[in-house]
Amino acid sequence: MYLYHFGLRELPFSLTPNTSFYLPLQSHSEAMQVLLTALKTGEGFIKVTGEVGTGKTLLCRKLLNEIPDAFEVAYIPNPALSPEEMRYALASELGIKGLTRINQQQLSQKIQLKLLEFNQQGKGVVLIIDEAQTIPWETFEALRLFTNLETESRKLIQVVLFGQPELDKMLSSHRLRQLRQRITFSYQLRGLSKEELKEYVLHRMSVAGYNDPGLFDNASLSALHKYSKGIPRLVNVMCHKALMLVYGEGQTAIHKKHIALAANDTDSIEAVGINIKAIVAALLLMALTIALTLVVVDMSTVKEWIQ
Ligand SMILES: Nc1ncnc2c1ncn2[C@@H]1O[C@H](COP(=O)(O)OP(=O)(O)OP(=O)(O)O)[C@@H](O)[C@H]1O
Ligand SMILES: [Mg+2]
Repeated sequence: MYLYHFGLRELPFSLTPNTSFYLPLQSHSEAMQVLLTALKTGEGFIKVTGEVGTGKTLLCRKLLNEIPDAFEVAYIPNPALSPEEMRYALASELGIKGLTRINQQQLSQKIQLKLLEFNQQGKGVVLIIDEAQTIPWETFEALRLFTNLETESRKLIQVVLFGQPELDKMLSSHRLRQLRQRITFSYQLRGLSKEELKEYVLHRMSVAGYNDPGLFDNASLSALHKYSKGIPRLVNVMCHKALMLVYGEGQTAIHKKHIALAANDTDSIEAVGINIKAIVAALLLMALTIALTLVVVDMSTVKEWIQ
């Protein structure tokens, strides 16, 4: 694609939450600080919420990488599970063997014994759950019961919930009031400010191997902020498209018009006034055609070389 054109080692705006691209923005650093402090206190539930695309999964992965060795971690990225499935998932994450042909009561006992075993080894156990807004109501109750397990001085397990704002809505319901009371620390992620957005874009380009700070002009950064509302995933989507457009034109600088075109071509961004989807599609297609031609040319060079 445009890797060669810009001299990049990898795609700078991939949507995968890859921790090697992590930038310690203020909101993410504060969240990480809250998480690490809360884990030290050993209390029940910790919650991090944020709009779609604000970096919760990335933060979750960062926490998994950085959590001190004194903690044993169980990670459940897809928690749309029944209470039974949640217990099995936790047991298997904790390395408990012999899970076949046992009933729920035996399973709960095995979990409790394993948690006590970790406790005796001086280890705290943390269950980290991403996409927590998808947890069914009854499964929340099963989670609350896990955190009832405790020694005289501390809980046997702590639960970290990462979720979209719908999680807060669920937790505010009367039905979950007991669990809500056990949330001792929470943090809400913010979108990027304009200054942070600039730093973010340049940081991702630099990690991917490109170091010219002049690639995006000021107007293009303002437009990026306006259309993305500071949501990192939307910034990534638009930057990727803008890079393709600029590559298609054979240029090396991104201007406001490229961002406007990219925004117009992105469904989750409010319409920007003019219907230019066809132009954008044609330009993106052109960029793809160039990329494919280069690949074909490359292949024939390889063939010639082989012969
Ligand atoms: N601090 C950051 N540094 C680098 N990249 C970031 C940062 N925050 C977010 N991103 C990037 O933004 C994109 C969206 O992040 P992520 O997938 O973690 O969002 P999310 O909040 O989990 O979204 P969803 O609610 O849809 O699950 C990813 O490509 C991620 O790498
Ligand atoms: Mg996510």
